[in-house]
Amino acid sequence: MSVIPVLNISMLNGGIDEKNKFISLLTKAAHDVGFFYLSGHAVSFEFLKKVREITKRFFDLPEKDKLLVSMINSPHFRGYNISGNERTNGKADWREQFDIGAEREPYRLTDMDPIWLGLHGHNQWPKSLPELKNIMLAYNDTLTGISLKLLRALSLGLGLPENSFDEIYGDMPNEHVKLIRYPSCRSTKDGQGVGAHKDSGLLTLILQDDSKGLQVKTGDNKWIDVFPIPDTFVVNLGEILELATNGYLKATIHRVLSPIGQEERISIAYFLGASLDSIVPVFELTKTLTSGISLIETDPNNPLLRNVGLNYMKGRLRSHPDVAKKFYSKWSNLYEK
Ligand code: OGA
Ligand code: NI
Repeated sequence: MSVIPVLNISMLNGGIDEKNKFISLLTKAAHDVGFFYLSGHAVSFEFLKKVREITKRFFDLPEKDKLLVSMINSPHFRGYNISGNERTNGKADWREQFDIGAEREPYRLTDMDPIWLGLHGHNQWPKSLPELKNIMLAYNDTLTGISLKLLRALSLGLGLPENSFDEIYGDMPNEHVKLIRYPSCRSTKDGQGVGAHKDSGLLTLILQDDSKGLQVKTGDNKWIDVFPIPDTFVVNLGEILELATNGYLKATIHRVLSPIGQEERISIAYFLGASLDSIVPVFELTKTLTSGISLIETDPNNPLLRNVGLNYMKGRLRSHPDVAKKFYSKWSNLYEK
């Protein structure tokens, strides 16, 4: 892997040959690289401009307004974190962030319930930026639509029925939008914007600004830049797709370095995860696809669970130890090594 391909999703609207061409390029990118740029997505420039502007305005709010919607108020892991609050590989990530999920009724957890039911709930919205809510919920829905198109195309590319993934994302996919601001490395301790990691869900779509910093790890352990390309999303696969295909599809390790010399880097990440009550299946792939592939790699310090809700909750608890201690102290065996 040395190049991250650009795939044009509008090919899905073309004739059968064009559609099949897209499906084969997508499947190849998902197997070889696990990362690609998506163009031709038909999300209007004006809408994306609005999304970027409101994100910038959120981060430019006075600190006290942002702290009013701190994640520490939310057992559902929604809200704002100052730089350095989140951890990856046990080290602080130098990024300010605001987490938004699907708006769902919160569940009153009892001792008998699976812990991940605590993830359902409402978002926190800043009173001083009332437009944020509608724009971000619309953005969430638009990106879910694109992600589902990609998943269906990927199913076909794997020789499976088009709706093979429908069951795991279900009626309530785990949708998550994260607004992120990486401060310049001048103000960070060690340049870890976000430490090396794989994403946990199905698909991630990242809207970058025009500064670099995002990098992916190649098979020969080199880091390559995912430099920004205007009018594209960067798409990468998460561990659920890797697990469901026994490693045929790649959840590639990536990281963000703190921006050098420039003030900040802003990115808006959208994550599509599976429904929390689902179990990751293993799909039978044809021999033509799988001959000679390497097996799935799992992190021995953080083994992957097929139980989607529990795996996702474990990730949230480890990333946000302050929220974990406040609301989930009874479950500390899940997140304290
Ligand atoms: C993430 C991530 C990349 C970026 O949040 O999982 O990898 O560019 N973000 O912000
Ligand atoms: Ni990531």
